[in-house]
Amino acid sequence: MKLVFLGPPGAGKGTLAVLVAEAYNIPHISTGEIFRTAIREKTPLGLKVQAIIDAGQLVSDDITIELVKERLAKSDAKKGFILDGFPRTIPQAEALAEIVNIDSAVNFDIDDELVVKRLSGRRVCKTCSQNYHVDFMPPKVEGKCDKCGSDLIIREDDKIEAITKRLEVYRKQTEPLIGFYREKNKLTDVDASPSSGTVFESFQKLFPQT
Ligand code: AP5
Repeated sequence: MKLVFLGPPGAGKGTLAVLVAEAYNIPHISTGEIFRTAIREKTPLGLKVQAIIDAGQLVSDDITIELVKERLAKSDAKKGFILDGFPRTIPQAEALAEIVNIDSAVNFDIDDELVVKRLSGRRVCKTCSQNYHVDFMPPKVEGKCDKCGSDLIIREDDKIEAITKRLEVYRKQTEPLIGFYREKNKLTDVDASPSSGTVFESFQKLFPQT
């Protein structure tokens, strides 16, 4: 199964992608996570993109397309994948179509008010990147990761000014992809507002395992 997860920041793409990747045994490829790892490790890529990401802007198409091309060339992506957060612009979608024929773009439908609630309450593990929410998915011990025990932190781009910017960028640059994939009969809408378990059940009905 070759899928793109499309939707505003905080819609729950990353959370569902983790569940689907495990259940369907396909890799979860998150461009945001690749960039955040590069920033954490202070690689040349990380140093180049840090200020852009912290401000809620998009990294250039050239850099992002090259990165995804390299990742999709790895052997584990041959059987299928979830692309989480890519494509995000029409040029990225056109470039992806030249690399691989996806089965579907899953569109996470959610309103802005809930997005802001989800992003402002998100906490992430500074070591293993596991994500939590202070109200909706709290850790067992406050401020500590259930998986590895490290401290939970707030993502720089989850501060309110960056959230506002990311939503603005989403409307302008990424939302047009809904029409792009609908025209190609590749769009699958999912109601992303219920709990993650309910969203996962809806996904399983739409994409039954063979
Ligand atoms: P990226 O990491 O892709 O960020 P995003 O798209 O803004 O997505 P998020 O990670 O914020 O949200 P999500 O939908 O995954 O929600 P999550 O599951 O975490 O990109 C970051 C940055 O990198 C971009 O801004 C850009 O600068 C750059 N970048 C990345 N890709 C790029 C590209 N292709 N081109 C150019 N630049 C690019 O959930 C959010 C919260 O809600 C969590 O706390 C979670 O616990 C909670 N939650 C999730 N689901 C539910 C639920 N169903 N019910 C209740 N709570 C829930």
